Amino acid sequence: MKFTPTSLLVTGGAGFIGSNFIHSFIANNPESSVTNLDCLTYAGNLKNLTALEGNPRYCFVKGDIGDAPLVAQLLADKKIDAVVHFAAESHVDRSITGPEIFVRTNVLGTQVLLEESRKHWQSGAVADFRYLQISTDEVYGSLGDTGYFTEETPLAANSPYSASKAGADLLVRAYHETFGMPTLNTRCSNNYGPYHFPEKLIPLLIHNIINKKPLPVYGDGLNVRDWLHVRDHAMAIETVLKKAAPGSVYNIGGNNEWKNIDIVNLVCDLLDQRLGRADGENRTLITFVKDRLGHDRRYAIDASRLQADLGWSPAYTFEQGIAETIDWYLANQEWVSEVTSGSYREYYNQQYGGGVA
Ligand code: NAD
Ligand code: TYD
Repeated sequence: MKFTPTSLLVTGGAGFIGSNFIHSFIANNPESSVTNLDCLTYAGNLKNLTALEGNPRYCFVKGDIGDAPLVAQLLADKKIDAVVHFAAESHVDRSITGPEIFVRTNVLGTQVLLEESRKHWQSGAVADFRYLQISTDEVYGSLGDTGYFTEETPLAANSPYSASKAGADLLVRAYHETFGMPTLNTRCSNNYGPYHFPEKLIPLLIHNIINKKPLPVYGDGLNVRDWLHVRDHAMAIETVLKKAAPGSVYNIGGNNEWKNIDIVNLVCDLLDQRLGRADGENRTLITFVKDRLGHDRRYAIDASRLQADLGWSPAYTFEQGIAETIDWYLANQEWVSEVTSGSYREYYNQQYGGGVA
């Protein structure tokens, strides 16, 4: 199966993974253009995309995926032949304190995007079309000490975040089964890398260590996550978009399981060296705190289908990826301080002269 996307609608492209994907896709596909639809929630940061400003193959539109007329207009005006849907509320802890927006954005927003995509695809405005839903391994629930999630593992989401992502995945499946719409669905493990909002574990650790602040470790610190470099994720998405058969689902993972406490110790030690601190100094910042409610114990992905069918495997070793990530945060302290001060939110008005960002 070969598909050559020429005009992409990327949703949530001002977020962590979306912005990395746009950089990578624009660089790899000189004939293609990207329209980035993002409503700029707290997680949307146009500073992630400054290098693309003025690029004729890139266009930013501030708007909500739940705005059906806007989505319909973009699909038609830009002759979109591929939708890559990242936009979401993405932080588990926030979904515990405020689940409603997760359902609104992740479930209802996805439904609007699916429905407008269906109409656009059925109108015959473009010769070929794909809708790619970016999802997470968290839809499968939690594992014990052994075993892996495969694409056949039943959905058993445990947090409001993962439940909303699972709901969206089922709608995507329904649009393929019911209407024959050419959908694709990827489910990826935890990403790390540049432009990661510092509420998530790895950038939070780096930021707090630099500032000698406590490093909160939930529960006993023995929960396990599989970590994948965000640029490997971006390449996997591009591979699926171009090569996967419509209707297919692919797991994406790094084959790189870590207990949280081991990641915390590793990041502490790498930053001891880089910040010229004594061996073990940063580990004294570790603070065990109350566990997250419903904290999934272990995630582990079997991504062998993606490798066997489409030939993708991660390019980064974790050693290289985590070292580069730490160096990126050290070299981009301004990006981090603009995020933590909130000043990044003014950038849309400065740059685009629009309404309240
Ligand atoms: P993020 O929180 O960094 O970015 C989300 C983006 O979506 C932001 O730019 C935000 O402004 C935008 N957005 C939110 N609601 C919107 C709406 N209603 N309309 C338009 N834009 C909206 O998220 P991320 O970490 O980049 O994750 C991207 C996608 O990948 C999500 O769907 C997430 O579920 C999935 N995912 C993330 C990870 C991970 O480790 N971060 C792993 C697997 C899957
Ligand atoms: P997170 O980055 O929030 O990703 P997810 O919950 O989607 O896996 O958290 C990764 C792991 O780190 C998860 O097991 C929760 C844990 N964690 C902490 O121990 N302390 C923290 O401050 C955060 C944000 C997460």
